[in-house]
Amino acid sequence: MSLTETFSGASEMQGPIHLAVLLSGTGRTLQNLIDKIENGLLDAKIEVVVSSNAGAYGLQRAKKYGIPTVLVEKTKYKDVKGFSNEITTQLDKYNVDLVIMAGFNCLYRIPNKYMGRVMNIHPALIPSFSGKNYWGEKVHKAVIDSGVKVSGCTVHFADNTYDNGPIILQRVVPVVNGDTPESLAKRVFSEECQAYPEAIRLFQQGRLKIEGKKVSILP
Ligand code: GRF
Repeated sequence: MSLTETFSGASEMQGPIHLAVLLSGTGRTLQNLIDKIENGLLDAKIEVVVSSNAGAYGLQRAKKYGIPTVLVEKTKYKDVKGFSNEITTQLDKYNVDLVIMAGFNCLYRIPNKYMGRVMNIHPALIPSFSGKNYWGEKVHKAVIDSGVKVSGCTVHFADNTYDNGPIILQRVVPVVNGDTPESLAKRVFSEECQAYPEAIRLFQQGRLKIEGKKVSILP
């Protein structure tokens, strides 16, 4: 069953939205959400952080703030199915409205019950420079090498293909002469820090309607 067939639209929520965060790395995206919550810019509670990688610094960040953490190590599973089933088992233990992929470098096969409730952020303008092999610095290097004049970030609903689900919002940055992958990544990440909380707020307000590949933002 596809995301479109299963998604019926979230209604406006009362009180904080309950999030689960999936990550594999440094957890800067997690930190941004924590900061936005602490500064009163996002009415959310992070129920659990699930890491695919034992060495992820994101786990330490979560622990520092007393957020429960779970390790589901990708390398311990022989296939995507077993890995994904374990993630779902862990998510089911918590009260989760929305699952946030935050630097999560794995495919999570999303069960029907979570379809339309999993978001991802990609550091480029999907459908360009996206898909299985585009992550980390490689994305920004490919952008610079291509000669395009703009890049940006994309928040989208996840489906069962890398960087493929319906796009919620995008923010654009210029690519400038002399850019390095590091300088471009920094510029893009600063937009990510605005885009992801904005998408979460829209979901919380029940303002995201999926129709095929398109997401309408309701007034
Ligand atoms: C960001 O570039 C984001 O777009 C991608 O992962 C990076 C953040 O990872 N999905 P992290 O939060 O620093 O671990």
